Formats: sequence, structure tokens, C-alpha cells
Amino acid sequence: MQRRRMIVGNWKMNLPTDPEAAVDIIAEAAVSKIAGDPALIVCPPATMIALLAGRGIRVGGQDCHVAPAGPHTGDISAPMLVQAGATHVILGHSERRATHNETDEVVAMKAKAAWKADLTAIICVGETKIQREGGAAISAVATQLVGSIPKGAKAANTVIAYEPIWAIGSGRAASLPEIAEMHAAIRAEVARRFGAGVAANIRILYGGSMDASNAAGILALDDVDGGLIGGASLKTGEFLTIARMS
Ligand code: PGA
Repeated sequence: MQRRRMIVGNWKMNLPTDPEAAVDIIAEAAVSKIAGDPALIVCPPATMIALLAGRGIRVGGQDCHVAPAGPHTGDISAPMLVQAGATHVILGHSERRATHNETDEVVAMKAKAAWKADLTAIICVGETKIQREGGAAISAVATQLVGSIPKGAKAANTVIAYEPIWAIGSGRAASLPEIAEMHAAIRAEVARRFGAGVAANIRILYGGSMDASNAAGILALDDVDGGLIGGASLKTGEFLTIARMS
């Protein structure tokens, strides 16, 4: 099976300068053949999920709670994301791991909650600068993969996003050899745990300062199946330029 490329925009707690125009342009691209393949997904703040989904844009949440409902002020559950029109959810982003103390164990519980609601989990992993410089990048990511991805992962319910923490929002993506080496290591780890079939089909995205100037090179790498794009996804023209790269 050929892995279909996936381009995911992560708006974080931001909006494009002109959100209405951005939604119009992405909606047009989403229904046109150009952006129909690769899969194009936008993960806006939760308040905009229903609006984007209603315009025919494939949408993901940026997090979900482990429980389907309950006394958790400020949180949102996987079934609620589905109700709003989401099909995907980003889990374990390094910003949430850092500022919401999300451990691998919590991320794994969230993945189970997402699957139960029929959401595809986009599970993020990535090393710190210190780990990279200490030669521990691959082992750090392997540990995260084991802890964050629960049993039952398959290509249909899980996407892995490799996002080196030091590259996110820095304007400096990881180098092509660094990305190639890590993506191959991630696929090997998936094969070890879930079998060759899952490893061959699961999508592994790169994220961390991906933009229109470096995306072609990154997307051309063998084990890279798409991108998780933060800053550049807020510039709609640039985001769609990346989505249209073949
Ligand atoms: P960036 O963010 O593209 O702005 O580096 C990527 C991400 O954090 O998902």
C-alpha cells in the first residue's frame, strides 16, 4: 500500500491574519482536486473546528481529555471533537508536554480515548536540544514512542509526528540527514512493536519550522509522509503551496 501524504496545519492558539479569507481559500482548495490528495488537515483552536468542518475542510483538534465527559473545566473530550466535525486530534505536542505536564502515559491514555471516539491520533514525539547534542535523540524518541503509543496502533488510527523540540518555531528545521535517520528509526521501532505491515503503512510526519522553502526537500525523503506545520500554516498561501508539492 502506498502511504498517502498528509499535510497538517497546527494553528496552535493563533489565527491567520484574516481568518475568514483563510477559511474561504482553504475550503476552496479542500474541495478541489489539487488539495484532495494529499490529505489536507487543519487543526485550529477548538472554537473554530465546527466552522471549518462545515466548510468541507478536514479538521483536527489540538488535544483531548482522557475522559469522554465530566468536571474538567476548560478541557474538551474526544467525542466532543467528533461532534464538532473533527476527524483527527494532535496528541502529546511538546508544548503540551511542557506546559501541561503531559507524560507519555497521559498521551497514551488520550490516544485510547481518541480511538474510542473514532478519531485518528496524531501522536507527537521529539527530542530536546540537549538530548540531540548528547547523542541521545534516537533513544529519547524511542522511549516516547513506547510510552505514548498504546497497543492497538495501526495505520488507520495513528499518525506519528516527529517534531524535534529545538526546531519548533525556531526558523531552523532539522537537517535532511537528521530527519531521514530519525524517521527510519521511528519506522523500525513501529515494526518492532506492531509488525512490518503497520510499519509499512503508518504515516510519519515531520514538524519543526517546515515552510515553503524547505518542504520539498523534506517531503522527498523516503520515510517522510507529510508535515505538521505551525507558523507557516497561518500563512494560507504558503500552507497550500506546501500541500500542493508532489
Ligand atoms: P512550527 O511548529 O512549524 O511553527 O515550527 C510546528 C509544530 O509545533 O507543530
